[in-house]
Amino acid sequence: MKVLVIGNGGREHALAWKIGQSPRVSDVFVAPGNAGTALDATNVDIGATDIPGLIQFAKKEKIGLTVVGPEAPLAIGVVDAFESEKLRVFGPTQAAAQLESSKAFCKNLLRQADVPTADFQVFRDADDAMRFIKGRYPGERDRCPVVVKADGLAAGKGVIVCKRRDDALEAIDRIARRKEFGTAGQQMIIEERLEGQEASVLAITDGRTILPLPPAQDHKPAFDGDSGPNTGGMGAYCPTPMVDDALLAWIEEHVLVPSVHTMKRNRKPFRGVLYAGLMLTPQSGPKVLEYNCRFGDPECQPLLMRLKSDLMDILEAVVDQTLDQIDAPEWDPRPAICVVMASRGYPGDYEKGQPISGIAAADELEDVKVFHAGTRMEGDSVVTDGGRVLGVTALGESIAKAKLNAYTAVQRVRWKGSWCRKDIGDKAMQFMEKQAFEG
Ligand code: AMP
Ligand code: GLY
Repeated sequence: MKVLVIGNGGREHALAWKIGQSPRVSDVFVAPGNAGTALDATNVDIGATDIPGLIQFAKKEKIGLTVVGPEAPLAIGVVDAFESEKLRVFGPTQAAAQLESSKAFCKNLLRQADVPTADFQVFRDADDAMRFIKGRYPGERDRCPVVVKADGLAAGKGVIVCKRRDDALEAIDRIARRKEFGTAGQQMIIEERLEGQEASVLAITDGRTILPLPPAQDHKPAFDGDSGPNTGGMGAYCPTPMVDDALLAWIEEHVLVPSVHTMKRNRKPFRGVLYAGLMLTPQSGPKVLEYNCRFGDPECQPLLMRLKSDLMDILEAVVDQTLDQIDAPEWDPRPAICVVMASRGYPGDYEKGQPISGIAAADELEDVKVFHAGTRMEGDSVVTDGGRVLGVTALGESIAKAKLNAYTAVQRVRWKGSWCRKDIGDKAMQFMEKQAFEG
């Protein structure tokens, strides 16, 4: 079978690499792909949101399954368009993808499904939102700390965590008056700020059966110790000890099942990857910060590094709605860590076109795979082409060993201005030390 993967990030490289290992798959195409997918698969020069172009290609090549990586094509209905052409496709419909493309939709669904999440209110008008922050009556409890969020897709930048009242007023001004996030800011959500560790629990579902994947932890802030601005994710590891089997079972019962069930009841059945971004609050347990409707990037890289079963079995069972009939997937018991190497300046403006050396030397190491994100070929050399450039991913007997393996590989890779966080996985080790001390 021929498979088409849509997207060009580290997640899509990992998907193409893993799908290509299936004995059922003859060819993997990636649209538009990067320098890494050009090596492990075949790139086709079609943009991820060029729906007519993608459909034309899928028909011409007789693609047996299309797998959608990023949220943008899902939000504009790529799955609906493929399905109406009788093309097999993995991912949620546009209606179901609103779980990610509209934070107001997501919060209302969570409320309806009685899933734990931060208290919130939705606003359209800046004045109303500001009155809410200031409090209607003198002496009313201060609303801060709060988080102000633009409703729509804003590449992770539309979420502003506010400590003080002035920060919240400024955030409302940026979203609703200065329209920094364009139409994504037509609605705003103001919610209580939660404290705790964050975890990513991804599940695969065909709309009825739910298959939770091993929990992961992302590292969103740019710099060590979780300082600096938020990014798309500077590294991830899997599994995280912060979500043990009992907690995962609790999350399945109280978060995933009611969400999937309510989507079905609302006639927007969700099929694909349901990714719960959770805050593990010390007082009241896990609460949903957001849903994404696709694999996380970089969470996908360590996840797939550990998957021993054929990913095609899982993806096809979702499309065929037979997820209840497949064997439980087999996972490598060893943890995996992905360290993102980024361009100078990211997550702000960054330079492109720097030649990268040492990728092959890093890839050669045992239990290491270098997934490309923002890269492209220029002649015979691989050059940088994005903010997040590579996801250096390694397995190890323990998280400490996986970290050592990943950073040993990182040291072999170089380009002018490259940098990475040095502490990916440390939160897991601190957590385990604390548990051992208390236990
Ligand atoms: P989101 O895109 O909604 O997941 O938000 C992006 C990031 O903002 C999250 O990963 C959290 O670090 C932070 N965040 C979002 N909502 C909250 C909240 N209610 N309390 C504290 N931090 C939050
Ligand atoms: N790793 C965060 C995301 O994929 O949204």
